[in-house]
Amino acid sequence: MSTTGRYTITAALPYTNGPIHIGHLAGVYVPADIYSRYLRMTGNDVAFICGSDEHGAAIPMRAKKEGVSPQVIIDKYHQIIKQSFHDFGISFDNYSRTSAAVHHETASDFFKKLYNDGKFIEETSEQLYDPEAEQFLADRFVIGTCPKCGHEEAYGDQCEKCGSSLNATDLINPKSTISGSEPILKQTKHWFLPLDQYEDFLKEWVLVGHKKDWKTNVYGQIKSWIDDGLRPRAVTRDLDWGIPVPVAGAEGKVLYVWFDAPIGYISSTKEWAEREGKDWEPYWKDKNTKLVHFIGKDNIVFHCIIFPSMLKAEGSYILPENVPANEFLNLEGNKLSTSKNWAVWLHEYLEEFPDKQDVLRYALTANAPETKDNDFTWKDFQARNNNELVAIFGNFINRVIVLTNKYYNGIVPSPSTFSEIDQKVLAELKAYPAVIASSIDRYRFREASQELLNVARLGNKYLADEEPWKLVKTDEERTKTIMYVALQIASALATLSEPFLPFTSTKLKSMLNIGLEGTVATEWNAIATTEVLLPSSHQIEKGTLLFSKIEDTEIQKQLDKLEATKKANEAENKVVEPQKETATFEDFTKLDIRVGTIIEAEKMPKAKKLLVLKVNTGINIRTIVSGIAEHFSPEEIVGKKVTVLVNLAPRKLRGVESEGMILMTETPEGKLVFLNPDEDNVSPGAIVS
Ligand code: 2FM
Ligand code: ZN
Repeated sequence: MSTTGRYTITAALPYTNGPIHIGHLAGVYVPADIYSRYLRMTGNDVAFICGSDEHGAAIPMRAKKEGVSPQVIIDKYHQIIKQSFHDFGISFDNYSRTSAAVHHETASDFFKKLYNDGKFIEETSEQLYDPEAEQFLADRFVIGTCPKCGHEEAYGDQCEKCGSSLNATDLINPKSTISGSEPILKQTKHWFLPLDQYEDFLKEWVLVGHKKDWKTNVYGQIKSWIDDGLRPRAVTRDLDWGIPVPVAGAEGKVLYVWFDAPIGYISSTKEWAEREGKDWEPYWKDKNTKLVHFIGKDNIVFHCIIFPSMLKAEGSYILPENVPANEFLNLEGNKLSTSKNWAVWLHEYLEEFPDKQDVLRYALTANAPETKDNDFTWKDFQARNNNELVAIFGNFINRVIVLTNKYYNGIVPSPSTFSEIDQKVLAELKAYPAVIASSIDRYRFREASQELLNVARLGNKYLADEEPWKLVKTDEERTKTIMYVALQIASALATLSEPFLPFTSTKLKSMLNIGLEGTVATEWNAIATTEVLLPSSHQIEKGTLLFSKIEDTEIQKQLDKLEATKKANEAENKVVEPQKETATFEDFTKLDIRVGTIIEAEKMPKAKKLLVLKVNTGINIRTIVSGIAEHFSPEEIVGKKVTVLVNLAPRKLRGVESEGMILMTETPEGKLVFLNPDEDNVSPGAIVS
């Protein structure tokens, strides 16, 4: 178990160009929150830091698309994101934003220090320029083919397919994402951090120093970057959105967003310290402080190569102790995507499941993408809730609370002699804080969440074996001891669940009437060291159910919603058929199109798609064979008015002569629909012209 110490825990600053979804929670914020809560409960001094990343290139792009200023966009999403974090119990000590004055000042000062210390290379070079938009192109403003893997939509700073870090000029066939035009090369001056000069430092620090304690996915990525050879990286940009480069001769230039964003951790810490009357510096400069960055795998290079090199260049900062980056979470088999709306948005989830924040936290933790990409499915979410939280955790607590109220009016009974089983169970219980802590200390939050559930399993098994509901009739003393032991387990669960299920923990504490200052021990370590967690004579409350079952219909609703998103995306991507060759008016008048009424319909034997129709065309009643059997039953179309091409040359289909064609179209979902005249007073035979 970790010893008491000082921790600076950072969680990646989210871009404020959209709300946040389950992928963000699973990959970064829930694990960071579990870790921070646990460290606080074990007596550590913790600064859990985050804020909005408001200088990303996607922000002015989104603003342009919506016809508003970037400020409108960042204000809107900063609020939405901050609220979502609050709603899901993410216990940041501070949530700031990179548009804050303290951040502009901190980032500018950082740049100036490196500039004055001669840590940058100043270079005028040819960069991509969009002559139409009159703007230099870098990062997300340009796409092209990745020189490493051939992916055709690599960005100017990174290829999302192979993970390579790129300079915009590396791209093959670059194209501006602003105007679509082909960029030209134009000279411009920039400041570069010569990463190549930090290669030895990085090798020593990570490749040697952290070979054993960093996650293999993180270590492997860093190694391959370093093996590839590091190159100087521009830390300024020709853009009008960002922090102005604070030196003479840099007019119209801003700091690269990935230069300023990680400094946001420092400015957010300053903001917090100022508010709390603390000194921020030990959290970033004291060698005994442990700095841990929680991020997703796409951020590894920035947190393990670029930011540490910046910190090293500055000279007075500590380096991260660990960067437990997660892999990605998919949703029902597909990549989460903001632009394709393929996501479970947190604010929308809460509208559907208003009191189930912990259920999502739990499902995402139990299935976290810790070592490989993982899939979130609504079925798994339902199973985690119904089979684990309700059937195991909730069931145990419910039995304990109900029986204690029933037998003893809610007063914890006094135990008599502990049997061997009681002693074994109590000893096992005492071991759990260390077991769970050991998983958390190694950033294995999935494992930790399952150990937490094992505590409830221990309680369920104990009650099932000891059967107090039977014994109560014959052996009151023994029943009291059993209920006393079960209550100790319930009390431990109230504490141990806090990092994972903070809302449940609070609810359970109030049901057990604990956690009120000075009444009973609720500290993590106290479970192992204190003899009595919930003393005899302590009064508990009546209680309510901790968790409730999620029905199939609720899950189906979410699946339907995703299905609708899929259809909408398909419709949007559907290629509209190009217009056919021009038809003259004479050509058109050759077609005789009339209103008709279907008067009979039956399936064509042995033909899946065909219906044989009798249609009153006004001219006569004729047979038309139509390929609509998979979309309509014969019964539902009899009596329907339809549009018919009546002078189509007759042709035989499966031996039946068809004398015309019913005009149809298709919905985006691929369902055939009639082009039907819906005016009541249009009669068969009416000409369409
Ligand atoms: O990838 C992202 O969403 C970035 N906004 C993360 C920034 S982390 C930090 F450096 F600020
Ligand atoms: Zn690539």
